[in-house]
Amino acid sequence: MTAVELEPNPLREGLDQERVPEASCLVIFGASGDLTQRKLIPALYSLAHDGLLPSGQTIVGIARAEMTDEQFRATMREACDKHARTAPVDDAVWETFARGLFYVQGEFADRDAYARLRERLEGFDKTRGTGGRRIYYLAVPPDFFDDIAQNLAASSMVNDPEKRGPYTRVIIEKPFGHDLESARALNQIAVSIFRERQVFRIDHYLGKETVQNLLVLRFANGIFEPFWNRQYIDHVQITVAETIGVEKRGNYFDANGIARDIIQNHMLQLVSLVGMEPPVAFEANSVRDEKVKVLRALRPIENAVRGQYVEGSVLGEEAAAYRAEDKVDPASNTETYAALKVYVDNWRWADVPFYLRAGKRLPKRVTDISIFFRQAPYPLFSRLGVKMQPNVLAIRIQPDEGISLKFDSKVPGPAIRTAPVTMEFRYATSFGAEPPEAYERLLLETMLGDATLFARRDEIETAWAWLDPLLQRWARDPRPPHFYPAGTWGPDEADALIEGDARRWRRP
Ligand code: BG6
Repeated sequence: MTAVELEPNPLREGLDQERVPEASCLVIFGASGDLTQRKLIPALYSLAHDGLLPSGQTIVGIARAEMTDEQFRATMREACDKHARTAPVDDAVWETFARGLFYVQGEFADRDAYARLRERLEGFDKTRGTGGRRIYYLAVPPDFFDDIAQNLAASSMVNDPEKRGPYTRVIIEKPFGHDLESARALNQIAVSIFRERQVFRIDHYLGKETVQNLLVLRFANGIFEPFWNRQYIDHVQITVAETIGVEKRGNYFDANGIARDIIQNHMLQLVSLVGMEPPVAFEANSVRDEKVKVLRALRPIENAVRGQYVEGSVLGEEAAAYRAEDKVDPASNTETYAALKVYVDNWRWADVPFYLRAGKRLPKRVTDISIFFRQAPYPLFSRLGVKMQPNVLAIRIQPDEGISLKFDSKVPGPAIRTAPVTMEFRYATSFGAEPPEAYERLLLETMLGDATLFARRDEIETAWAWLDPLLQRWARDPRPPHFYPAGTWGPDEADALIEGDARRWRRP
């Protein structure tokens, strides 16, 4: 059989001309953890697979467990086979990739471990051409942050960018604090040792192609921006729905809840990107300046509903109640669902409600932003008994990434009847490929030193300052959250929140 010659897809043009950074040592603190195995190493492997890692790139895992480099490599290979976008692992790619993969055993509070680490890193500068460039990835709970940062500084492993020399950068995983006070404390530690431009605070939603495309959709097209405001938009709905429960993270989740886990970070990133003014340049500080202004304009939360799942069935499988989950307090009042009505009090968005909802154990995994437009000014067809539907621009962040526009059309035939129809754009169809994983993009951006897709200090603190009063209100409220059976779209009270305004949640 002869191979079929595929026509080149013009929409993929330029996709192969990616930027390749200089080789560095990327040190992962928390190398035996879940994040390293499920996300970080698989993302790095996929970058290598796509030819986006520089030759000589070196990755060093550090954790408490005793392990040799070889053992670490074997575990990571398994992880890549299971989790990498480009799985199964290709032997030839792996061989080169694994040559740059190393392990150092150490306790994060033990100064000697840093001496050992430093010695190895300096060795790699000589053998692998990493030139003293360092990226420290803190894939550890925030309690370790202080110890690690202090020890790195005390071991002369942090270079000040104000002085000449190779760069040092630090990537900090979420949760970035538990409330405003703890977030400030973490930021304080960060800025006592690093400069803001060395700090890359991860919100993996910003690494998603569809999230970045919000900026392109809004600011690279002439047709959307003119009606992206209160004159034409009736309201906005943002949904982050998951089918999974808390899985093995009962401990973490029960102490946090969905508002801290999703709304404070991922959801507010989406709100800021939908709400922001055009930045003066597509550059880290200009973009983040505009995003933070949206957060500053958020009105204190008045309307919020919290929910918690009880027993039910999700995607045809029985699901236990939240309170019966492993490592969850059987009397827990932690919310697994939250719905909020919020306002961005500024010129563009005055009186346009943003309805936000996020939940675990919902019927479907979907993240969606729906922009509902105002009705036509004059009800020309309603006089003929025709019911008009609002126009909706639906931006599907995941899965089935794409954008659709819903509008009414005449049903063919002699009578005037209308039906909603949609215009669709789908990433997979247009670009012929699945978008890369968020962590791939974010790791690459850190190596390139571009912080556009990372949260700045003031963004994090402004987000917490806005959410804190609600969290405190909930903490003081002795009533349990509103219960909803697993596999449903949340409690009835969340429907009432929007239906009270004569609107309805869209079923994405
Ligand atoms: C994480 C949350 O930040 O995001 C998890 O801690 C959640 O609870 C996850 O499941 C969702 O990410 P994604 O990329 O699957 O939407």
